[in-house]
Amino acid sequence: MNKELLHKIKTNFSEKFDTKPLMIFSPGRINIIGEHTDYNDGFVFPAAVDMGIILAIQKSDSIISTVYALDKHEELQFSLDELEPSTEGSWENYIKGVVAEIQNSGKTIGNFNLVFGGDIPGGAGMSSSAALENSVVFGLNILFDLQLSKEEMILISQKAEYNYVGVKCGIMDQYASMFGIKDNALLLDCRTVKSKPYKIDFKNYQLILINTNVKHSLSDSAYNDRRSVCESISKMLDVQALRDATVNDLKEIQEQVTPENYQKALFIIQENDKVIMASRAIEEGNLNALGELLFDSHKGLQNQYKVSCDELDFLVNKAKSNKHVLGARMMGGGFGGCTINLISTEHTNAFTEDVARNYKEKFNIDCTVHAIKLSDGTRIIE
Ligand code: GLA
Repeated sequence: MNKELLHKIKTNFSEKFDTKPLMIFSPGRINIIGEHTDYNDGFVFPAAVDMGIILAIQKSDSIISTVYALDKHEELQFSLDELEPSTEGSWENYIKGVVAEIQNSGKTIGNFNLVFGGDIPGGAGMSSSAALENSVVFGLNILFDLQLSKEEMILISQKAEYNYVGVKCGIMDQYASMFGIKDNALLLDCRTVKSKPYKIDFKNYQLILINTNVKHSLSDSAYNDRRSVCESISKMLDVQALRDATVNDLKEIQEQVTPENYQKALFIIQENDKVIMASRAIEEGNLNALGELLFDSHKGLQNQYKVSCDELDFLVNKAKSNKHVLGARMMGGGFGGCTINLISTEHTNAFTEDVARNYKEKFNIDCTVHAIKLSDGTRIIE
C-alpha cells in the first residue's frame, strides 16, 4: 500500500474536518482468466492487488455529508434524503450510489465526512470503481454499526454500479476487492459467490500488467449489450445462465441466432471451461499450459466476444512473439485498459522496454508497466 498517499489523505482529512478519521484501504484487482463469465453465473480467477483506494471517513454533526476527491480536487456535498445520480461518468455516482443502496436495504446512516484518493490509474481495468464502492460501504458499515456482512456489502456496491453508474456488471470486481487474500488468487464461482484460494507458485515467472493508457468510449454500452445478448441466448436455451449450457446445446439453436451472437455465446461457454482448465494447470504447476490458456482467452475476447481493441491486440501480439512470455491477454471489460502477462522474471525488463518503445512508435502513447503483488482485501488501516 502507498504510504505517501495514506499520509496525504490523513493530513487532508484532519485539516478539513478537524477530527480523527477511520482509515480504510480497498484494493483493485487483477483477473488471471475468466472474462465476462461473471454475469453468466460462471467462474473467474481474480486477485486483489496492493494498489487501490485509501479512504478517510468520520461521522458529521452537519445536516449534509461532504466528500472530497483528493486526486481530482473536487468536492461533493449532498443531503442523505435527496440523493440523485450526478452526470454520467462522474466519480460522485460511486459514492451516492452506495449511500442510496444502503438506505434502500433498509439501513439508516447519519451524515459523514470523507476524503479519498487512489493509485490505480483510471480506465486501467483494475476496478478502481469497485475499490471505491467497497471502501465507502465498509467505512459506513463500521461508523454506523450497520451489521452488514461482507457478502451483503459487495451486493450493495454492485447495485450502486447498476443503478447509479449504469453498468450491469457482474460480481467479480467487488468480490475480489473485498475478499482478496495475500499471495493468493481466488477461483470464484459467481453463482454461489464462494471462492477457493490458490497460492500460485510462479517459479521464475511473474505477472506483469501493461496498461495501454487508452479507454475507448462506448465501453459501458458495449458491456451492457454483451450482457443482454448472453441473457437472451440463455432464455432461448431455457437455462438460467450460459454457465449451464454446453457447446452442443448451443449448436441446436445455431440457426435461430445471428453468427455474431452465436460466437459471443460460444466464447462464454469456452471461456468458462478455460477457467477450470487454468485451475488444473495451476494445481499441476504447469505454467506453460496456463500461459497457453491466456493467449487462447485473448483470441476469443478479440475475435468472438469482440471487446478488445488495436492497442490491446498489439501488446498481446508482442507478447506472443517473445519466447520468454508464457501467456498474455487483455484483462477486464475491454476496449482499453491493461494486458496481463506471464513473463520470465529475468527477461521482464528487456521485454517491457522493447514493447514500450514499439507501442510508442505505433500509437504515439506511452504504455505503463506494473508488477503485481497479490494482496488482502478491503480492510481498516492505521
Ligand atoms: C468489468 C465488470 C466485471 C466483469 C469484467 C469482465 O470489470 O465490472 O463484473 O464482467 O468487466 O470480466
